[in-house]
Amino acid sequence: MKHAFWHERWSDNRIGFHQSDFNGWLTKYWSSLGLSGEEPVFVPLCGKSRDMLWLREQGHRVTGVELSDLACRDFFAEQGVDIDAIEEGEFHRRERDGICLLAGDVFKTDREALNNPRAIYDRAALIALPPSMRVDYAAHMASLTAVGDQILLVALEYDNPRNEPPFSVKGDEVRDLFAAEFVIEELDSADLNEGRFENQREVVYRLVRR
Ligand SMILES: C[S@@+](CC[C@H](N)C(=O)[O-])C[C@H]1O[C@@H](n2cnc3c(N)ncnc32)[C@H](O)[C@@H]1O
Repeated sequence: MKHAFWHERWSDNRIGFHQSDFNGWLTKYWSSLGLSGEEPVFVPLCGKSRDMLWLREQGHRVTGVELSDLACRDFFAEQGVDIDAIEEGEFHRRERDGICLLAGDVFKTDREALNNPRAIYDRAALIALPPSMRVDYAAHMASLTAVGDQILLVALEYDNPRNEPPFSVKGDEVRDLFAAEFVIEELDSADLNEGRFENQREVVYRLVRR
């Protein structure tokens, strides 16, 4: 997936993936990770997701990484905050009240830049990437985590997969991508009868780094 694809989506405001409410899976299952709130959390491909505000409310310091500088700026603007970005290597960094957004390519991040996260929240990140990038993404998530770190992953699956986001990522693929480095537990799933695609389901997983 070319970066230009996403930059165009943001500049044209074609962001149907953005949710105005907190994600229901997040609010229901985050507690199953058994965290205290002290742990830094990383949100890859974060867009301007309000879920970062919810995670912050739980006490976590949050670092989000998002290709679109526009999205990062809008996230803070929608909280009534205008922050100038600071250039930091390959990233534009904005930080306020325990939420830090890095505008740039997630594949250029390392553990330190992400404040040594103990947990990762993936909603619409893995499923935004085409197949070969999903392999790189899973390897990158493994490189960013240490033993015991966790990922709450919300995946989407449907029949007759198409060639653009959101991609269908079924359970077998989640296991192929992550099982070598993570213990995978399927926490829940729901059919989306009103969904755009055939037999559309959301599936939520908890991954624990081996
Ligand atoms: C489907 S959206 C999901 C956004 C967010 N997770 C949410 O739930 O609203 C995927 C996002 O990933 C961003 N993105 C795509 N490739 C990226 C990359 N290599 N590095 C960082 N962000 C990326 C896009 O700009 C887009 O905002």
